[in-house]
Amino acid sequence: MTKKRIAIFASGSGTNAQKILERFQNHADIEISLLLSNKKDAYALERARAFNVRTVVFNRYEFYKSDFVLDTLIRDRIDLIVLAGFMWLVPTNMVEEFSNKIINIHPALLPKYGGKGMYGRHVHKAVKESGESETGITIHWVNENYDEGDIIAQYRCELQASDDEDEIARKVHVLEHKYYPEVIENLVLKSTKNN
Ligand code: GAR
Repeated sequence: MTKKRIAIFASGSGTNAQKILERFQNHADIEISLLLSNKKDAYALERARAFNVRTVVFNRYEFYKSDFVLDTLIRDRIDLIVLAGFMWLVPTNMVEEFSNKIINIHPALLPKYGGKGMYGRHVHKAVKESGESETGITIHWVNENYDEGDIIAQYRCELQASDDEDEIARKVHVLEHKYYPEVIENLVLKSTKNN
């Protein structure tokens, strides 16, 4: 069987990308083929290079007004797109071409704290300000709206009143690092079995 090919999209530090790269290094059935970023100085790019994974940087024009990114994914025979801290809305042509083949991780329990402007630290700030006693992560399919695709999995953690934004972010990252690679692996292996 040829390996299933994953493309990771990341805009920032890429600690999630790191865990995914680690999980699928030397995997029998799955490989990370590409890491793409909209930020040329994203640390996620360095992480990918350390695993000898090809990197691609693109700008707003290339993403929204040309087929550059889409063609790159098609030419590379990508089976699954994994958004890992990617902060731009995925354009409709990509959602249609990769229907049910794009997943995202969101650092809260959707449908709470999702939508435009709700990303990264903004999410943890809103959770803190609302005095929530729990938060968590949501892994979901991507459609043309922010954070609205069908939910694949959610994991929760308790919050203390004394937890500040940093502590909330830390707890959420622990869940992300533990579960995102595992959920990706299960999804890909399940789809392989069904084919
Ligand atoms: C993660 O917490 C991820 O859930 C969040 O950005 C962080 C990236 O961290 N994604 C979003 O907010 C998407 N709307 P990382 O660069 O260390 O993986």
